[in-house]
Amino acid sequence: MLGSTGRRFLVVRPTLGETVLKMPRGAQVIYPKDLAAILMEADIAPGMTVLEAGVGSGALSMAMLRAGASVVGYELREDFANRARNNVESVVGADAPYRVELRDVYDGIEERGLDRVVLDLPEPWRVLPFAEVALRSGGIICAYLPTINQTSHFRQVLETSAFGMSSTLEVLHRTWHIEDRSVRPDHRMVGHTGFLTTARLLRREELGSRPGVPGPSRVEPAAPGATDAAAAEAGDARPDADGVDEATDRVWGDTTG
Ligand SMILES: C[S@@+](CC[C@H](N)C(=O)[O-])C[C@H]1O[C@@H](n2cnc3c(N)ncnc32)[C@H](O)[C@@H]1O
Repeated sequence: MLGSTGRRFLVVRPTLGETVLKMPRGAQVIYPKDLAAILMEADIAPGMTVLEAGVGSGALSMAMLRAGASVVGYELREDFANRARNNVESVVGADAPYRVELRDVYDGIEERGLDRVVLDLPEPWRVLPFAEVALRSGGIICAYLPTINQTSHFRQVLETSAFGMSSTLEVLHRTWHIEDRSVRPDHRMVGHTGFLTTARLLRREELGSRPGVPGPSRVEPAAPGATDAAAAEAGDARPDADGVDEATDRVWGDTTG
């Protein structure tokens, strides 16, 4: 391509990872390194039906749609829901199997026979009773959380649920500088984004009869340290596209995402 000053440019289409960091957004997006891990840990595959809450800017929706899944999204905010729909339409296409509903997932999940439930919101343990009946046996729940106290509480509540085979990880992504004989890690890296926890639905047949398994109507109390106020204080320190912390532009417990 020839620029207005006569300079020549090579133009290539952006990758999904590049698009996610530059696209219009309201809520903070999940970083590409974590999107990649979610696809693998939650085992997202063609033909699967995934319930996602909340959808925010639609970055995770795009990654799962591109992996071949059908996605039903629950989102509290209408402006975010519209943003996610627009982003998905422009990147994945208008015919993507994608539906976003304006709903609070803490009030319940309407769908049944889901393959996956994927959550990026402050109190995923409140979704467990609903996910237990909405997922098919062997289905996977996956929660992305910015703090370890939220993650620890989620793991504790999982222990009292019909889910098992829980695991938690974080992705540390270090790029390298490679130039002639100067071969070393880059000086800067993204220190922290979030923790990824997955578990599988193992004991649905016992639901309602086993003491300790929260039924669909029961809502777990908030984790100590993950109350709205404490979560807001902790902040969501996902870095922005330039690697700069955005702890102040987005806080957990604040439904603005
Ligand atoms: C960090 S954003 C999600 C970003 C999204 N994963 C992405 O990659 O673009 C969190 C979203 O959850 C939504 N949310 C919070 N609580 C919710 C709830 N109880 N039900 C549905 N959506 C909720 C917020 O409005 C916000 O849009």
